[in-house]
Amino acid sequence: MKISKICCIGAGYVGGPTMAIIAQKCPHIQVTVVDLNAERIGAWNDTDTANIPIYEPGLAEVVAEARGRNLFFSTDVAKAIDEAQMIFISVNTPTKTYGSGKGMAADLKYIELCARQIAAIAKDNKIVVEKSTLPVRTAEAIKSILDQTGNGVQFQILSNPEFLAEGTAIQDLLAPDRVLIGGDQSEGGEVAVQALVDIYANWVPIDRILRTNLWSSELSKLTANAFLAQRISSINALSELCEVTGADINEVAKAIGMDSRIGPKFLKASVGFGGSCFQKDILNLVYIAQSYGLTAVADYWEQVIILNDHQKRRFAKKIVKTLYNTVSDKKIAFLGWAFKKDTNDTRESAAIYVADDLLNEYAQLAIYDPKVSRKKMLADLDYLETRTPEENARQAKTFEDPYVACKDAHAIAILTEWEEFRSYDWQRIYDDMQKPAFVFDGRNLLGKSLLERIGFVYHAIGS
Ligand code: UDX
Ligand code: ADP
Repeated sequence: MKISKICCIGAGYVGGPTMAIIAQKCPHIQVTVVDLNAERIGAWNDTDTANIPIYEPGLAEVVAEARGRNLFFSTDVAKAIDEAQMIFISVNTPTKTYGSGKGMAADLKYIELCARQIAAIAKDNKIVVEKSTLPVRTAEAIKSILDQTGNGVQFQILSNPEFLAEGTAIQDLLAPDRVLIGGDQSEGGEVAVQALVDIYANWVPIDRILRTNLWSSELSKLTANAFLAQRISSINALSELCEVTGADINEVAKAIGMDSRIGPKFLKASVGFGGSCFQKDILNLVYIAQSYGLTAVADYWEQVIILNDHQKRRFAKKIVKTLYNTVSDKKIAFLGWAFKKDTNDTRESAAIYVADDLLNEYAQLAIYDPKVSRKKMLADLDYLETRTPEENARQAKTFEDPYVACKDAHAIAILTEWEEFRSYDWQRIYDDMQKPAFVFDGRNLLGKSLLERIGFVYHAIGS
């Protein structure tokens, strides 16, 4: 089966970059990315590609190359579904905020809406590809909706989880460690899997394309994220031990990372992991384990989240304790709001929770992030519903210039590891601050010796 038309539902952090690379690497395939959010689609179509809605190094160039040639962004969901032979579902699957599974299970309502819409529109056979991270056996639910509400046409469901990390999405998509494709083990399923393999084979070496059954593919995605998050919680747990014993977490991480069985990656102690995937996927795993009665399994994985929450909270507590047990009306500058560098995504960013704790202590925050807008920062705080939007806006000021944000501050907290923070004129920042001038480096980004030589009181994670 030769695919010439693809539709992707959802123009977010997964759908946008993934489809841009497919379009770039497969000029013979027409790729249409659709979204209900007209503002987002408008931004993807902005004549100046610097204004596309997602900041991701290298993405604007890929969009500039393919857009209008074989890459299109549209709000006409029905038309794109109708025309496509293969439909990717890349809509959001947030953690449920209501009803059974609240705070744990993934909310599949957007997925279900997509399935119902595809079923209503499709007049010929379609391959439906799950790209969003989903609980195990979602494919079964999608298939049931498609088959029972469709027009008698055949649907094949594939699971093709996305492993890209934000900030390195283009590199991850161009040279993936592996592409995973799960499908039904029937003749029709194998044809569908092969059709998707043929697309990736345009640029991915064939030995990196893995074929599995549907459930293995779905569970592998959750497992990969759970393992990665577990490494961070493990190193963060030890960072607290280092702080009380005099060991240095960076030295410990280096020493264990040189063991080839452990490896050096994902051992950076931090103020806590964020992002749209780790917490959601682990909660999901915990929920699935609980629903099968596997309490020990559920408790084991839940501890990764508990430790991560503890790490964020103890960072905020340390700031309060160090500033003589009160931050009331003290100015605390935040450098960084995104959940990691090189992205404008703030979902589950540690900065939000640290800020919330400090605002509860009546601190005055001065926030700077090179890529996150004021609107987004305030929306993140408002979403917690800890205080009114007016109170948030009054207590949390945002700045476009880091030097102004840090002026007259009692303390600076580094929340995101943006490279530019390293090259600031730290002497100038010190001169303009209240004394003693504290730096709480939640990313172990800055040089301790340089800052201490200038006169800062410097606190890192895990040393
Ligand atoms: C993650 C997975 O890496 C990716 O494969 C999956 O598709 C989606 O989820 P992402 O959330 O974009 O990607 O970023 P990632 O680089 O994994 O970082 C997640 C969080 O962990 C960030 O807040 C990051 O700062 C933090 N982190 C990462 C650490 O604190 N220490 C580390 O050593 C690595
Ligand atoms: P992700 O990180 O998984 O890509 P995002 O939230 O960035 O998540 O993107 C998901 C996108 O899916 C959003 O832009 C949202 O508007 C879109 N979306 C959700 N449901 C539908 C739907 N039924 N039809 C079209 N687009 C949808």
